[in-house]
Amino acid sequence: MPRRSWIHPEKIKKGLKTDLIGQRIQHFTEATSTNDIAKKLASKGAEEGTVVISETQTLGRGRLSRRWASPRGGIWLSTVLRPQIKPKEAPKLTLVAAVVVAQTIKEIFGLNAEIKWPNDVLIKGRKVCGILTETSIKGETIDFAVVGIGINANTSLDSFPERLRGTLTSLKKELGEEIDREDFLRALFEKLEHYYRLLEEEKFDLILQEWRSLGGFLGQHVEVISLDEKIVGQAVDVNQNGKLVIKLEDGSERKVTVGDVIIRTRLYERETD
Ligand code: BTN
Repeated sequence: MPRRSWIHPEKIKKGLKTDLIGQRIQHFTEATSTNDIAKKLASKGAEEGTVVISETQTLGRGRLSRRWASPRGGIWLSTVLRPQIKPKEAPKLTLVAAVVVAQTIKEIFGLNAEIKWPNDVLIKGRKVCGILTETSIKGETIDFAVVGIGINANTSLDSFPERLRGTLTSLKKELGEEIDREDFLRALFEKLEHYYRLLEEEKFDLILQEWRSLGGFLGQHVEVISLDEKIVGQAVDVNQNGKLVIKLEDGSERKVTVGDVIIRTRLYERETD
């Protein structure tokens, strides 16, 4: 990829209407994992809102220690946050990020982006974005959180392992042309700051309301693989703590903290060999 098509932090910052998110950006052409770099920076005192972006990642990580393929053209970034919430509330950050990504895609491109619990953004049932939130806890508080966001932006599907291609999509594929990643990131940072403020102001209800309106799979019959257990039922809601509520066949409810959701036998997950 020629240098001119790299992400230019200065272009993002031009006209960026935030106080925190994206005011400091570290850009790499190649990194191990932006989450790892952001965690290192955060532990050394990096300011809240610092963003680490890389054009590629050699050790990109997904949920449940899965590898995350990060070819050129994507948006692989991590943000340092220092939220005043309890450690057990950390999953809320993932919900915030999912709302932010799905809404930005909808507003800028008019694409019908939907959220699949807990951390995927899909377009027409195919994964376009995954989110990985990691926290460092000090006593009863969060010292810092790193929210990692991976978006298949200008990636061609042939740059992913073959067996993943049927489950993925990219913005370029959906739009038939490349996006301007800097313009997209500016909008994403502004929205992230807006929703992060709502979280800090303890207005999580408003975020949840948005999440529910974007959670396309709610109401559907699902299977959830959670810690080696298979739970079958109807996905009815996501609760205040970010847990997925499943109505079982006997009418009782189960609340799930971790898991992979399978809708109509399709598993939208990403692993590389
Ligand atoms: C998932 O769906 O399993 C989460 C994927 C998260 C990927 C992003 S890309 C930027 C950041 N750095 C990483 O190593 N992972 C996250």
